[in-house]
Amino acid sequence: MFFQPLNPPIQSFQGQRIWLVGASTGIGAALAEQLIAAGARVAVSARSADSLAQQFSGRAEILPLDVTDATALNVGAQTLCTHWGGLDLVLAIAGTYQVMRADRVDLAAAKRILDINLSGVLNLFAAVQPTLLKQGHGGFGIVSSVAGYGGLPLSLAYGASKAACINLAQSLWLDLHDKGIGIYLINPGFVRTPLTANNPFPMPFLIDADVAAQAIMRGLQRGAFEIHFPKTFSRLLKLLNLLPHWLYLRLVKRGTGL
Ligand SMILES: NC(=O)c1ccc[n+]([C@@H]2O[C@H](COP(=O)([O-])OP(=O)(O)OC[C@H]3O[C@@H](n4cnc5c(N)ncnc54)[C@H](OP(=O)(O)O)[C@@H]3O)[C@@H](O)[C@H]2O)c1
Repeated sequence: MFFQPLNPPIQSFQGQRIWLVGASTGIGAALAEQLIAAGARVAVSARSADSLAQQFSGRAEILPLDVTDATALNVGAQTLCTHWGGLDLVLAIAGTYQVMRADRVDLAAAKRILDINLSGVLNLFAAVQPTLLKQGHGGFGIVSSVAGYGGLPLSLAYGASKAACINLAQSLWLDLHDKGIGIYLINPGFVRTPLTANNPFPMPFLIDADVAAQAIMRGLQRGAFEIHFPKTFSRLLKLLNLLPHWLYLRLVKRGTGL
């Protein structure tokens, strides 16, 4: 029992009905490309309709929307269910990030980060939950971050939003595993995308978006609950977070120099 994967492995993506929310750039766009290439039936969402159409027209269903708009997500879910007859996997990828320190709080920006990164995930989950429960199968994945493992400098609001997503994914798994629903928690390290393009510090173990997408595909195929990468970095952060606060906080302060 302890060596079984926590989720049903997705043996093949061929014909799988997959909705990626947050797929106009970065990790979501790279993942959509790889899922289409693997034979999945893909729907892509984000705010920028033009960007989605330019990249995916004729190859994926295009549903432009904003994740802070719960009604738009409900309509999107209904549209796909009518068109496809159900959903096999829904991925909450949309996210935003802004460097923020506690000595210069931008409250409006902090609330916007929580609205997109946390409430957006809840909005999407609420929109697809009735379908997943009715089916008794299918999966819901949340792209959180290794930044959610523990507090980091410059990460005010973003880190908190991602920590909440990790907690949310664990709660969803506990509540839904017995109902046949897979719950996937995806925790990337640094990935080269528009989100990180203006980071004012060197990013250790930085990887490209297509490498991140490959890691996500492999994790889904394994039926992993947590899909974290790149492993050297994510395992290092996991180890740091096992330490008591007095040691964790001092090591992070000294190690980052921030
Ligand atoms: N890059 C990294 O190093 C890294 C590391 C860990 C975790 N992550 C997480 O990975 C996810 C994807 O990030 P990324 O690096 O690929 O960034 P990205 O290239 O900026 O992609 C973000 C995606 O989310 C969409 N989005 C943003 N706000 C939205 C909203 N309100 N409604 C609908 N869609 C919205 C964006 O499209 P529109 O702007 O067109 O709406 C875009 O498609 C995020 O959750 C991020 O926090 C990234």
